[in-house]
Order: sequence, then structure tokens, then C-alpha cells
Amino acid sequence: MAHILLTGSSGFIGTRLSGRLRSQGHRVTGLDVRPASQTDVVEDLRDPSCVARIADRLGAVDVVAHFAAVAGVRRSLVEPDLYFDTNVAGTRHALLLAEALGAARVVMASSSSVYGDVEGPAAEDQPLAPLSPYAESKAAAEELARAWAATGAFQVVVLRPFTVYGPGQRSDMFCHQALHRVMAGEALQVWDWQRDFTYVDDVCRGSAAAITVPLAERFRTYNLGSGRPVPVREFLATLRRVTRLPVSASFGPAGAGEPAMTFADPTRARAELGLRHPGPFVVGLETQRRSVLATMKPARHRGALATAAPSGLTPVG
Ligand SMILES: NC(=O)c1ccc[n+]([C@@H]2O[C@H](COP(=O)([O-])OP(=O)(O)OC[C@H]3O[C@@H](n4cnc5c(N)ncnc54)[C@H](O)[C@@H]3O)[C@@H](O)[C@H]2O)c1
Repeated sequence: MAHILLTGSSGFIGTRLSGRLRSQGHRVTGLDVRPASQTDVVEDLRDPSCVARIADRLGAVDVVAHFAAVAGVRRSLVEPDLYFDTNVAGTRHALLLAEALGAARVVMASSSSVYGDVEGPAAEDQPLAPLSPYAESKAAAEELARAWAATGAFQVVVLRPFTVYGPGQRSDMFCHQALHRVMAGEALQVWDWQRDFTYVDDVCRGSAAAITVPLAERFRTYNLGSGRPVPVREFLATLRRVTRLPVSASFGPAGAGEPAMTFADPTRARAELGLRHPGPFVVGLETQRRSVLATMKPARHRGALATAAPSGLTPVG
């Protein structure tokens, strides 16, 4: 079993990934700028002086799993420097830390956003076409890691998750906002997109496998996606089904910096990481609905509260 330094351990994916890795018997040291139950080391990875402090404190680890980032396209359009500092300089510091700690492997979260708009499923080797400062910062971080893999002492696995959803999702993300708004009786604003919604436990399963998968190369990239794009109209119908409430949505122009369609070619991750075929989106969204409902003040949600799952839907996780 490995000793893993997990950055971003207080986040949406990091919290769940930490639990999964611990349940597999790994020793996990969580690092985040934001203290939470999964955080052992509170440091800001933008600060270069954190590298020596953390190395002194931990001595050695087997793997650095780098999930800390500022994520999301919209905010990156207004705070691009924050994204560069955190996602590029912060990744450089995570790589320096991996070297200082003698790690044999770095597993890092990039993003499907590096592909930009796709017409068919995006495969790992296709050219990157980032459309936003967020996507640019992730593409730049990948290139840094590729260079370190070529010259450094460790292997690098880059993961590109596609639109991750499920309980604990960041409140700026679409599924969370849509569920919250519908349950609060508010209208949605959407545009004509298609997204490859990937359940958080599937992302964690693939990420955990990336820590131990035998690698023939020093640098390997994997898509973590379901491989099935959900058009916005299907999303709205699913939302109606799980909430059992009317869904009022107005269509507007495309979101700046957002691709119209993203979806993964999951062939490599299925073959090498054992990424499974995804469960139905409606079941995952129902599980997320329950977790969003649990966080809402009673006065904010309406109707029969829909605390029971619609018939035929058993929550997962
Ligand atoms: N959620 C998605 O749909 C999605 C999709 C593709 C890629 N990703 C990537 O997966 C990773 C995790 O995403 P998430 O959705 O869990 O995001 P999140 O915001 O919930 O978690 C990120 C964590 O990083 C921490 N962090 C931010 N800046 C830091 C700093 N300077 N020093 C130390 N810690 C810092 C935050 O406090 C947070 O706990 C990110 O790298 C993100 O880019 C997420």
C-alpha cells in the first residue's frame, strides 16, 4: 500500500477520492489551502516556500496525487491570474514537492476542457484547443508535467475528467445550480450544449486505479468520462423526472469560453484503468438531488419536497 500526498483533499473530488484511497488501505496525507476533515497539511501551493516546509514535515511519500486547482470556466474569464498562479505555478510547486519527497509517480487532474469543442468523442492523443483561461492553465500544467516526466525521477499520469457530478459537487457547477434552482422554484437559463456527465465515484475509481496501474511509458494521459453526451434538453427532462417539479428554462447565447459539446472517448481508461461503463445519468442525478435537498433551508424548497426517490430510482453511493 502506498503513502499518497493528495492535494485538493478538501474539494469535491478530493474528499471522495481520499475516502476511497483510505478504504483501499493506502495511507493518505491530505493537503489543501482550505481546512476540512480530509486535510492534514494546510498550505497554499501558490507559495514557493511551501515546498521546503512540506518536504521537511513529510519526509517521503510514494505518490503525489495533485487535485488542487481553481476550477471552472466562468470565473477564469474574470480572474485569469488566479488560475495561472494556482493551476500552473501551483502545479510546478507540486512537481517540485514530488521530487523533494522522492515520489515515484505523480497523478494529476487536468480537465476535459483542454480539448475545446469536439465534434466526435475526444481521444487522448488529439490536439488540444483550450477556449478559456481555465483550459489554458490546465493545458500548460500538463505540458509542465510532461517535461518533468521526461527528465525527472517520477512517472506522470494526467487525468482528464469530463463534467463531474454527484453529491458534494461545487456550488458553482451546473447540476448543483440547476437542482437548487428548480427546488427553489426558480427558472433556469441554459444554452444549447451537450455534456459528458461523469459520476464522481467513477472519476475516483479511475483516479485510484491511476495510482497503481503499471505503465510502460513515463507519461500517460487518460480521459475519465462516460463516453455519452447528454444534450441540454435531455438534461432538463431528467431534471424534471428526478425533482418531480416543473422546470422552467429559457435558452440564451452560448457561454463565453465554453465548448458546445464535450464527450470522451473512454476506450483507453476502460482498457487500462478498468473504468466501468457508467450507470444511468438519471440515477446519479437523483443521488445528487438528495444531497442538494439536505443542504437547503426548508423555506427554500417547495412542493412535496420529493424526499423519496421517484419510482424505479435507487440512489447510488
Ligand atoms: N469537477 C469537475 O467537473 C472537474 C472536471 C475536470 C477537471 N477537474 C479537476 O479536478 C480537480 C478537483 O476539482 P474539484 O471539482 O474537486 O474542485 P474543488 O474546487 O472542489 O477542489 C479543489 C481543491 O483545491 C484547493 N485549492 C485551491 N487552490 C489551492 C492552493 N493554492 N493551494 C492548495 N489547495 C488549493 C481548494 O481549496 C479545493 O479544496 C481540479 O484539478 C479540477 O480542475 C474537475
